[in-house]
Amino acid sequence: MKKVTKAVFPVAGLGSRFLPATKASPKEMMPIVDKPLIQYAVEEAVAAGVTDLVFITGRSKRAIEDHFDKAYELETELENRGKTELLKIVRDTVPSHVNCIYIRQAEALGLGHAVLCAAPVVGEEPFAVLLADDLLDGEGAAPVMKQMVDVYNYNRCSVLGVMNVPLAQTRQYGIVSTERDVGDIQRVTGIVEKPKPEEAPSTQAVVGRYILTGRIFDHLRQLTPGAGGELQLTDAIASLLKEEAVLAYQFQGVRYDCGSKLGYLQATVELALKHPEVREEFAAFLAGRFGA
Ligand code: G1P
Repeated sequence: MKKVTKAVFPVAGLGSRFLPATKASPKEMMPIVDKPLIQYAVEEAVAAGVTDLVFITGRSKRAIEDHFDKAYELETELENRGKTELLKIVRDTVPSHVNCIYIRQAEALGLGHAVLCAAPVVGEEPFAVLLADDLLDGEGAAPVMKQMVDVYNYNRCSVLGVMNVPLAQTRQYGIVSTERDVGDIQRVTGIVEKPKPEEAPSTQAVVGRYILTGRIFDHLRQLTPGAGGELQLTDAIASLLKEEAVLAYQFQGVRYDCGSKLGYLQATVELALKHPEVREEFAAFLAGRFGA
């Protein structure tokens, strides 16, 4: 039985919605409180049993490689100063049993193309895809990718993380239609990228979490440009589901769209209110400033 041990992180995007912050540094390195977005996604994957992290990078993304690498000078400095807690934080960005693999996507041709770049490393195995823009908090339940791996292990087919969105927002997402619209695991009957509300088959939107079987690569190879002129992962999934079952899973937890300023700010406030170091003072500040 093949396990999900590889996760693909498409991180070549420009991050234009956060300019000028993203002019010289990757959007995935923007912090929520004290951790970069990409580290939240990596921790979620590792908690789901992933041991190989495949980053699909592009120009100006060196900071991501440095972040998950050893930082000799910094570590020596912290060691010399006896800052053991900080040293542990710096060393623990990835556990020692986890490998980082970097593949350059020379041209930004779309999410489908980014995932296809991982084919030589992933091979025929089932694998996870995590978009670091989407920060998912399991809120007491298991981390969301772990929830999805459990669904995969039971059903042995591709699984898409979905949530309900207001009808007016269907243009921002891949939207699925399913066999029934009750229950948290449904068989997908169709999927369309960023439909207008009047054309949307439902309001169930794909968030940036996928488990895909190795068969997806054949469908990705046959892609032609779709919505926005890009090679869309959504279109390859639409083609895959003619051949294999694909499930939509309504995950437990909350999703923050950290690709937008508003979602980024919401995540910052919510996670600061859970952060052991600042939560009390921050809550007191908010109460004093805006009322409890
Ligand atoms: C991508 C996918 C889309 C999905 C979304 C989730 O779009 O193409 O299907 O619903 O991520 O965040 P993007 O937000 O990169 O335009």
